[in-house]
Amino acid sequence: MTPDDEPTDQGLTKAELEDYALSGEAGGEEGMGSDDPFFVSKQASAVFKHKLLKTYFPKFVGKAGSTEADRRLAYVDTHAGRGAYDDGTAGSPLLVAQDVSEMQKLRRIDCFFVEARKSNHDHLRQLLTDNMPAGAHWITRRGRASDHLQEALAFAGNSPLFMFVDPYGLGPTFEEVASVLNRPRQGYGRKTEVLLNFIAMAFSRAGGYLRRAARSPQQENTLFRLDAVLGGDWWREIYLSSDSTAPAIAQIARGYAQRLQLKTNCSTSLIPVRDRAHKQPLYWLVHFTHHPDGVWWIREAAARAAAEWRRYCSPPPNTVEDSLFSITDPFPAEEEARQSSWVDIIERRTRNLLTERGRIDLPQDAYVLFGPDTFGQAWDKHLRQALSRLYRDGILEPRPYAKDINTYRGHRLHAQQRTSVEVKASDL
Ligand SMILES: C[S@@+](CC[C@H](N)C(=O)[O-])C[C@H]1O[C@@H](n2cnc3c(N)ncnc32)[C@H](O)[C@@H]1O
Repeated sequence: MTPDDEPTDQGLTKAELEDYALSGEAGGEEGMGSDDPFFVSKQASAVFKHKLLKTYFPKFVGKAGSTEADRRLAYVDTHAGRGAYDDGTAGSPLLVAQDVSEMQKLRRIDCFFVEARKSNHDHLRQLLTDNMPAGAHWITRRGRASDHLQEALAFAGNSPLFMFVDPYGLGPTFEEVASVLNRPRQGYGRKTEVLLNFIAMAFSRAGGYLRRAARSPQQENTLFRLDAVLGGDWWREIYLSSDSTAPAIAQIARGYAQRLQLKTNCSTSLIPVRDRAHKQPLYWLVHFTHHPDGVWWIREAAARAAAEWRRYCSPPPNTVEDSLFSITDPFPAEEEARQSSWVDIIERRTRNLLTERGRIDLPQDAYVLFGPDTFGQAWDKHLRQALSRLYRDGILEPRPYAKDINTYRGHRLHAQQRTSVEVKASDL
């Protein structure tokens, strides 16, 4: 054991505490109850990831659990934290505990939480004791995620598994993530998904060590750990040959996802998360799934999370009682204009696809229809509005409905056919 691997009194090794400093994610004011600044107050970026988890996870539970005879699924949170923020806002464990309660009649969601810091772990245990419903099966472990990975996989057994990997810093190695996604499972479908927080700040700060003429042994160590996390040193060249950090990190995040995709045969979605609009991503959420529905629903969840995040970044103005003038909240009008522009964009893209190919098939065409500009922004409502316009214009058949829009199949109508449809309709 090297000095960097020895546990400190906070339960993290020196190397992991270095990760903490790298992340830059620790926010809020210190000294307000928690000794972990991350958990003092919720940041805009955390609003995004929690809304995404809250929207997506029940979808996974509903879908992946539907063909399981025992209705059992496993949730593993490798870096669970305290469970909630000091202001009471739910963190990932408490959000999932709510899902366990709400879905208990339909599904059995067994949970496994790992947290390295003692004070966080103690808080987490108490919170789960108070909030998990009677009869729920859950376990917490204090320690490093890597040391409990095999136990977590054994805990999941043959059940569908959703793993949330949300470290401050560099996180698990490439091989560890691949081993989770490639876990053997008996039963229908592979049903293993990972949602991983790829912290841009940690990678950019650690990558900055590459440019230094002289490096401390600890910095060398961090670079080797970065190689292990990213599955090789391929990223170093990208970093060094780029003029600025943000595009390099984006390329590294993509390279990482592609390498894992190749190794595990998964589909991946990369979701940038910002602290403020127009700023570079603070982190990327990377989602791995073996099922096309997973790709569809994570995009939907990202779009809902983006909407919640925008509102969080633009709170309603303070209204002072008895003030002479009331201040109008500009957000609803801005949001309406934004969303209606998405419908226009999707309509244009659908029109083009129909002209080129004569038909559209969902979910396969989702990326083409949403395009890079509205992918992860617009959601199914906007897609249906765009398709409905084309249906009303007599260009698309059949009529799109909200239900099952994700499996909609449509084809182009010629003007002639439309006329007959209209005549037929008015004849009735
Ligand atoms: C970003 S926070 C987790 C937030 C939590 N997932 C949520 O959404 O509320 C990261 C947590 O990981 C813990 N941690 C850091 N290194 C760890 C490791 N190697 N294994 C397990 N936990 C670790 C930290 O103490 C911290 O509580």
